Amino acid sequence: MAEAGVQRGPGRGRFVTFEGGEGAGKSTQIKMLAKRLEAAGVRHVTTREPGGSTGAEIMRHLVLSGMGKLLGAEAETLLFAAARDDHVRNVILPALDQGRWVLCDRFFDSTRAYQGSLGKVAPDVLNAMQRVTIGDLKPDLTIILDVPVEVGMQRAAVRRGSGIADRFESEDIKFHHGLREAYRKIAAEDPERCVLIDATADPDRVADAVWDTVRVHFFTPAAVGQL
Ligand code: TYD
Repeated sequence: MAEAGVQRGPGRGRFVTFEGGEGAGKSTQIKMLAKRLEAAGVRHVTTREPGGSTGAEIMRHLVLSGMGKLLGAEAETLLFAAARDDHVRNVILPALDQGRWVLCDRFFDSTRAYQGSLGKVAPDVLNAMQRVTIGDLKPDLTIILDVPVEVGMQRAAVRRGSGIADRFESEDIKFHHGLREAYRKIAAEDPERCVLIDATADPDRVADAVWDTVRVHFFTPAAVGQL
């Protein structure tokens, strides 16, 4: 099916990233957006970080097990960067080049928030890693799902059930408050690319807000009315 009224030419796909703290509901929202894009005839792939490609999924196990933490903040950041490098080369760029949209659960803003603001890895180190791993690639739109820390942690605990908290879920409440602030700062610093959405409401209402944002960002005014 042809894409309905997408702005900025038909060639390359659009790159949309989702960000937020623990329990913000990113994976649910990505699935819901994917369904709406499907209905609108937009070819797309959904993926995630850390992971999303064969090599990066191996790295994912390493970092989420807490192994990277033992190596120190900079080395842990390098693991995320290595995973991203593989993911960008093998999944994201090929999909965009084929004209598919890429919906990605976390991308470099996660590194900026978790390793930069909270892990205190210096901006020049992050910039250097970013240059190597993603070059000029930048998301066309970043949706940051914002929920109060207590709500997010409660949702993450329900999702986890009797499973063990991973490397970042097990950080203390101060860390998660810092994370929320870090994301708000990222949104404020790059308002053209980032949209902060209150994700406290039920998933259907949040999905409507996400869809409104996507429609206005990418589709022509005439098409917005029809979608
Ligand atoms: P995941 O189970 O995918 O959690 P979530 O559902 O919260 O996305 O775990 C990914 C974890 O890795 C998450 O706690 C954030 C962290 N992370 C970083 O610290 N830096 C990064 O660059 C990325 C991509 C993720």
